[in-house]
Amino acid sequence: MSMRTLTVRIKRYVPERDRAPRWEEFKVEADPHDRVLDVIQKVKWDQDETIGLRRSCAHGVCGSDAMRINGVNRLACKVLIKSLPSDVLTLEPILGLPVIKDLIVDMKPFFDHYKSVLPYLINDDPPPTTERLQSPEERARFDDTTRCILCACCTAACPPFWGDDKYVGPAAIVNAHRFIFDSRDRGAAERLDILNDTEGVWRCRTVFNCTNACPREIKVTQAIQEVKQALLTGEVDTHSIVNIHQET
Ligand code: SF4
Ligand code: F3S
Ligand code: FES
Repeated sequence: MSMRTLTVRIKRYVPERDRAPRWEEFKVEADPHDRVLDVIQKVKWDQDETIGLRRSCAHGVCGSDAMRINGVNRLACKVLIKSLPSDVLTLEPILGLPVIKDLIVDMKPFFDHYKSVLPYLINDDPPPTTERLQSPEERARFDDTTRCILCACCTAACPPFWGDDKYVGPAAIVNAHRFIFDSRDRGAAERLDILNDTEGVWRCRTVFNCTNACPREIKVTQAIQEVKQALLTGEVDTHSIVNIHQET
C-alpha cells in the first residue's frame, strides 16, 4: 500500500484565549498502517507543537484518547489510516464535556457521574476464610460490563446527555451494571435507587449511539435495558444471562 497525503482538519480552541473554536488544516504523509494517533503526533512533532491532545497507552487500553474522528467517537490509537474512506481527516473533541484545550476535554463531570453509582464491591457480610466464591455462570453474568475502560466514547455520543449533562450517562450505568449483577455484591438496591432518579436510567431513549461508539464492543444499550428491567420487576438475576433484546 502506498503512502497517502492526508488533509488533517483539527478543531482548535483554548477557552481563556479564543472567542470561538476555529479549524486548522495540516498536510501529512501517512502510511496506511499508521493510526490516527500517529498522524496527530506527526503534526505535533513536525508542524505545530501546541496542539493539545490526551493520550497514554497508545494501545486501546487506557481510554484517554477518545475524540470525534470524522464525526464519530473513536479512540485515536485504534483507527487505522487505511480504514478512512477519504484523504480528509477531521478531528474534534468529544461532545457534551467542557473543552480545556483543542482535543482535550474536562473529564471531571464524567467521573463524577461514574462515582455517583458506587462503582465498587459493597458487602459487609463477615469475610469468609477463603475467597467469596462465585460460579462460572455467576461470573459470566456481568462479564461484558467488566471490560469498560472509562473512555467516555459512549456518554459523549448520547443525545440525551448532550441536552442534559446532569444525566448520569451510559458509562456510569455500565459500571453500575457490573456490580448490580455481581452475586458477591450487596449494594444493588442502593445503586438501583440512585439510577431510578430523574437523571438516571429513564433519561435513556434507547438511541444506541453508545453501543455503536464503544471501542470495547460492550453491549451498552443492553446493559441499560437490564438495569431498567431490574427496576421495573424489582428483581436482580445474578445467575443467568438475560437476553432482553437482540442487538446487532
Ligand atoms: Fe468507553 Fe465502552 Fe466504557 Fe463507554 S462503555 S466508557 S464507550 S469502554
Ligand atoms: Fe443514550 Fe445509549 Fe440510551 S445513546 S439514549 S444511553 S441507548
Ligand atoms: Fe490509551 Fe488510546 S492512548 S486508549
